[in-house]
Amino acid sequence: MSIELATSEHPAIHDSACPIELCQGGAKSALSHWPDTAEITAKAHRLINEPAYSVKPEKMVEYRAYFDTKCQGSRASTAEAAKYIPGGVQHNLAFNHPFPLDITKANGAYLWDVDGNRYIDFLQAGGPTVLGSNYAPVREKVIEVLNECGPVTGLFHEYEYKLARLISEHMPNIEMFRMLGSGTEACMAAIRAARNFTGKKKIIKVGGGYHGWSDQLVFGTRIPGTGAHEAAGIPDSALANTQEFFPNDIDGPNGLIALFEANKTTGGTAAVMVEPIGTESGTRPVERGFNQRVRELCDAYGALLIFDEVVTAFRLGMGGAQGYFNVKPDLTVFGKCVAGGFPAAGGVGGRRDIMSTFSAGIGGGTERTLVGGTLSANPLSAAGGYFAISEMARTHAPCKAARAADRLTEKLNDAIQSLDLPFFAYNHGSIVHLETHGVLLLDITDPGFLMKVFQRKHVAQEIGAGYTAEGIITLAGSRLYTSMADTDDVVDDAAERFYRVLSNMAPASFG
Ligand SMILES: Cc1ncc(COP(=O)(O)O)c(C=O)c1O
Repeated sequence: MSIELATSEHPAIHDSACPIELCQGGAKSALSHWPDTAEITAKAHRLINEPAYSVKPEKMVEYRAYFDTKCQGSRASTAEAAKYIPGGVQHNLAFNHPFPLDITKANGAYLWDVDGNRYIDFLQAGGPTVLGSNYAPVREKVIEVLNECGPVTGLFHEYEYKLARLISEHMPNIEMFRMLGSGTEACMAAIRAARNFTGKKKIIKVGGGYHGWSDQLVFGTRIPGTGAHEAAGIPDSALANTQEFFPNDIDGPNGLIALFEANKTTGGTAAVMVEPIGTESGTRPVERGFNQRVRELCDAYGALLIFDEVVTAFRLGMGGAQGYFNVKPDLTVFGKCVAGGFPAAGGVGGRRDIMSTFSAGIGGGTERTLVGGTLSANPLSAAGGYFAISEMARTHAPCKAARAADRLTEKLNDAIQSLDLPFFAYNHGSIVHLETHGVLLLDITDPGFLMKVFQRKHVAQEIGAGYTAEGIITLAGSRLYTSMADTDDVVDDAAERFYRVLSNMAPASFG
């Protein structure tokens, strides 16, 4: 099948109005609104201070029976996997209670497991597939490239510049783009370039933010204030120049300004790295003016501003979060969508003067910021990204996915209210948060913190199993990525399935 994809010669539509109703900011941004951060924070506070809710025991028996009777193929193959693969899965997203599913087919809004069960897919591979899973028009174009030259040659391929140029057209702050193998690598590259360019030492991040698993960034991950808690195997020295401040805390005694000030005499601040919608894809959302203030402070203190747009670039709209907030970062980190759901997905882009320090070998002198990767920017990843991003622009996929998310969120909140549950749902475009267990919302200063983590992780597993047994795949039971494939029918069907789980919940007992 031949399809017409947008190309650079047939330019993108980032400045024109989006025909999909409710999109703010033309096609640059797919959001219909920015939910009130103070209200979400208050609801989060209430959720974690009320007793944890879980699926009623009698319903849990039914859900377990689903896995016992309907998922025997998954059980067998993942039991075999556990003999050879640590933990039985290669990726944390694939954990599933009571055992992982063996997925054999993906198409649009749906996944199928080895036993033939169908699921509505709100994981969407962890974010990249805004067009829907296994989107045929892009897949076919990529297969053409594979048929011609295979996935890798080690030499230059035209889709490398086509992708970089396309990104720059949609996100004009990306004057140059260096493609890498993953978001983790791209975050490493960004902070290295920041230090090289500024000659300063410290990297400040927002507590709770995940910026991949490199030595220097496994600090204050998932839950603010946890510092080196997850840094097993990482020497203290690797973390000595990484700092965190609590979400939205700019002016407090331990806030961003205090860190900037303290750093003046200890090597200076090279960069502040933020997820521009808030940590963990907006689980702790930013206040509306946050990014602009951080921009101004970075300018005042001579630090670079790095946006980690691994999730948000293209999912939030073709202009990414920076297009929505109209704030210009110095560097932007990409992952996921940048290879259109194909491996390997990562890259860093931004100001020409900073990006030029990456000029690997050619023209790079002593100032070179060393990055590499045998398989970086291979024809498969570059073509996958190019065709997917072109197609996302042509079809207004981020806007369609966001409208599906708006509809889903409204239905989830209706269910929560009608059932009088202490839960809440909200969405930033096509990223939906359905907060029922609140594990990532817990407060480290709460004396009951550790007990609550333990209990609520258990509850999260049971709720996640309930969703799965009802035919829905989520990210860790609390995050739902929608895609262009989520039609009203898919969303309405999903809402009914969620309702069946939510209507069978009660305060949990941990006896
Ligand atoms: C905001 C953010 N940054 C960085 C990463 C790391 O990307 P990757 O998994 O490609 O290494 C992730 C992964 O989920 C992420 O969500």
